[in-house]
Amino acid sequence: MQKILNAIFWTAGLFSVTALLVVFVELPASEIYAAKKGVGKPLEKAFPHSQKCKRCHLRVFEEWEASAQSRSILSAPFRVSFERYRNMSKDKEGAMCFRCHAPSVLEYPDHVGVYIKEIESGDPKLDGVGCSQCHLIKEVDATQHPPLPNFQLERTVFGSYKKPEENLAHQSVPLPLYSQSQFCVTCHENLPGHEKLPDLLGPWQQSKTQKDGKNCQSCHMPEEFGESANGERNRKIANHSFPGRFGKVRADAVKLEVETEVKGQKSDVKVTIQSLVPHNLPLPHPGWSRVEIDLTILGKNLRKTYTEQRYYERVFGDKNGKPTVFDFEAVKVLKENVLKPEEKRIETFTFPTPKDAPSMDVIVTMTYAPIHGPDDFVKEVEKRAALGKKDRSFKPVQIVRFKENVLLSGKK
Ligand code: HEC
Ligand code: HEC
Ligand code: HEC
Ligand code: HEC
Ligand code: HEC
Repeated sequence: MQKILNAIFWTAGLFSVTALLVVFVELPASEIYAAKKGVGKPLEKAFPHSQKCKRCHLRVFEEWEASAQSRSILSAPFRVSFERYRNMSKDKEGAMCFRCHAPSVLEYPDHVGVYIKEIESGDPKLDGVGCSQCHLIKEVDATQHPPLPNFQLERTVFGSYKKPEENLAHQSVPLPLYSQSQFCVTCHENLPGHEKLPDLLGPWQQSKTQKDGKNCQSCHMPEEFGESANGERNRKIANHSFPGRFGKVRADAVKLEVETEVKGQKSDVKVTIQSLVPHNLPLPHPGWSRVEIDLTILGKNLRKTYTEQRYYERVFGDKNGKPTVFDFEAVKVLKENVLKPEEKRIETFTFPTPKDAPSMDVIVTMTYAPIHGPDDFVKEVEKRAALGKKDRSFKPVQIVRFKENVLLSGKK
């Protein structure tokens, strides 16, 4: 049985054994070296495309396909900012971005041109962060910042499944790494060359959540019960839709308490925001990420009488000291007020009490704000996005909303 399944697997061209042999026999040593760690296999063989895994892992594939990670070299904001980065920096090939958005390039630096064409096409055929880019990571060098993934491009798939010998379809080896936050931090810590700037996640190791032993996976790859591969018996599985800015996890992001005090002509709204997130909120990459706190007051006939917006963000400064939404231009942080891990913050708003109204509506919303930045940049994103202004980057994403009706009559 094992033999038959293995045969099906290999002939499907997933990790082609013949390709490996041919290269070793035919290529002179110098060219093997040039092909670097990819053991001389063509990239598509060393990093099988997620489509190849789909055949047996349909559920995982569909979840992943719906996730942000499947669009890591596709989104219009990425394509436009990638181009901008290459134009402004000495890194004309954009290698820095590939480190996390398409880490196969770490193993195949000679393919950087292929990837650039893929990105420019707007319809990449290669994976950025697909199944192989995660499941072939054998170890992570945490002495580097950001940590560097080390891939093993052979026939073994790594994971966290405790009884890999039960898997007759392909070799798999469980590694503790896959159940550790470190695995995720590899691509979520910071940009290379930003060692002097604070990390993206903030002091997540000190959070109560992390100390209680809850890793990134516990919230972002929530455990479920179901099929791991098509037709296999149900067991514990990990959701691969990577909920974050989108998806269910948002419901548990913050707790809001709102107290309204009417003081004659003026009123105060005190908003207590308890972050339940064990890392910065929002995470300040890309540099335009920000969370908006909006207070809206509705008076008589539900007419808007007051609104005020505040932002939680990291404002980067470029080499001339000017603010920039492009973190790759940043040499310093000009201002930062993101919510720190599990931080509790109080915002007080003061506004004129609506006149001649029996009551007022107090509405507090917290949203991920849409993309913002210089006009030419935002216009270019709109132009390049398949859906134009309807692209998800232009839509605010609600995190939490609070609404109450406060009686006013008799309080003058
Ligand atoms: C250290 C790893 C890392 C590097 C290096 C990196 N990114 Fe990212 N990037 C990420 C991660 C992780 C996210 C998701 C962040 C989040 O949602 O909190 C992301 C998100 C983004 C987004 C928003 C999502 C989207 O696709 O619209 C853009 C745009 C982006 N990156 C552009 C770039 C560009 C351009 C570069 C190179 C200058 C770059 N990144 C370098 C890890 C990285
Ligand atoms: C961003 C990295 C990442 C990507 C992309 C990714 N995985 Fe995973 N995968 C993991 C981690 C980490 C675990 C272990 C999760 C745990 O045990 O909490 C895992 C677990 C699994 C498992 C065992 C648990 C289960 O849910 O069945 C399978 C099978 C799997 N992945 C297949 C895939 C396939 C197929 C793809 C592509 C469609 C994919 N993975 C994409 C990181 C990733
Ligand atoms: C021929 C079918 C087939 C293909 C193709 C396939 N898998 Fe699997 N895979 C399985 C089966 C069967 C299991 C065991 C599932 C079980 O026992 O519940 C499995 C288990 C896994 C696991 C869990 C093992 C662990 O140690 O956590 C991971 C991860 C995984 N596959 C990743 C991949 C990736 C990545 C690809 C594509 C490169 C892939 N698989 C392609 C059939 C396949
Ligand atoms: C190989 C690099 C890499 C690894 C490893 C990785 N990520 Fe990511 N992740 C990315 C990139 C790149 C993006 C942004 C994709 C985009 O939107 O363009 C992203 C996006 C995300 C998002 C969506 C962010 C949003 O704005 O909604 C979540 C959540 C996430 N990752 C969680 C994780 C978790 C949890 C792990 C560990 C199991 C992990 N990632 C491991 C590169 C990685
Ligand atoms: C206790 C649950 C929890 C744990 C553990 C956790 N997160 Fe999150 N994370 C969240 C929640 C909730 C959000 C969504 C915040 C929102 O939508 O307001 C989020 C958002 C994100 C986002 C996307 C949103 C953004 O602001 O860019 C990324 C990426 C992410 N987390 C990565 C990680 C990584 C990496 C780790 C491990 C170091 C981790 N998370 C650990 C709860 C968690």
